[in-house]
Amino acid sequence: ARPIIIDCDPGVDDAVMLMMALASPALDVRAITTVAGNVPLRLTSRNARMMCQIMDRPDVPVFAGCPRPILREPVTAEHFHGDSGIAGLEPFEPDTPLAASHAVTHLIDTLRSAAPGEYTIVVTGPLTNIASAIVMAPDIARGIDQFVIMGGADSEGGNITPTAEFNIFADPHAAAVVFDSAIPATLLSLDVTHQVRAEPERLEQLRKLPGARPAIMVKLLEAANVLEARWKEGRMTPMHDPSTIAYLLAPHLFESRKATVSVDTAEGAHFGQTRLSAEADGPHTWVTKADADGFFALVEGLMTPS
Ligand code: BDR
Ligand code: CA
Repeated sequence: ARPIIIDCDPGVDDAVMLMMALASPALDVRAITTVAGNVPLRLTSRNARMMCQIMDRPDVPVFAGCPRPILREPVTAEHFHGDSGIAGLEPFEPDTPLAASHAVTHLIDTLRSAAPGEYTIVVTGPLTNIASAIVMAPDIARGIDQFVIMGGADSEGGNITPTAEFNIFADPHAAAVVFDSAIPATLLSLDVTHQVRAEPERLEQLRKLPGARPAIMVKLLEAANVLEARWKEGRMTPMHDPSTIAYLLAPHLFESRKATVSVDTAEGAHFGQTRLSAEADGPHTWVTKADADGFFALVEGLMTPS
């Protein structure tokens, strides 16, 4: 199985992403690191531990990371995720406590002692922890195969401002450090996540599966649909963060092109906007298309008890 570390800010769609990752025999989730984002750090850390308990994976340690962005003032997204961050679920205090180290310390220690290219790092929140690790220890690049990041927007425009996507806008300076690092990264931006939405017929299919977990995933996605509809009636929630895991497990469901991605860090109308330049030898892979039917078939497969 492929060794991964997941850096996230759960977040309803992060929670769905964690369910997929923790269910997959093809992924060896060695750690989850959390960051402030959709909700404050205390809640993203609690929510990540809740998902480990729901998936019966007490073996996966959760490390709390940075409680705020590097330079800008914090922004949160309770309007899409609920005050708890996991709209649709009743919060509970998980049995397994947080791991003792700071997430950034754990990332550095793990990646420094890793074999070359051993780890894929999945990132579904603001890039604060990852940037901090790169600044503190640039040599961690050696242990990383690539980042698979949910973030950014080009043709679709933004979701938190007209031009910026939330994860990048929430810490543009961190995103700049990561994109400028030359470490290979695949980006699942709004351009692709808006193609895969939690349509009611798809949720009906999921609901038919046996066991408690598919029902929990449906509750999360239904709650996200209710919040999404407040912004635009009839619009279903995009499968933002789950797209990272779908990409890793089934890359044939996606189309992409090579690019170099940069971020606007000047405060103003374009703060946090990603910019692409198409470069065949660029360090970044910009995903452009997803097969939504194949995506949901994958989710159903992962949620089918073996
Ligand atoms: C991203 O922002 C967050 O609100 C979601 O969890 C996702 O990571 C989508 O723009
Ligand atoms: Ca997220």
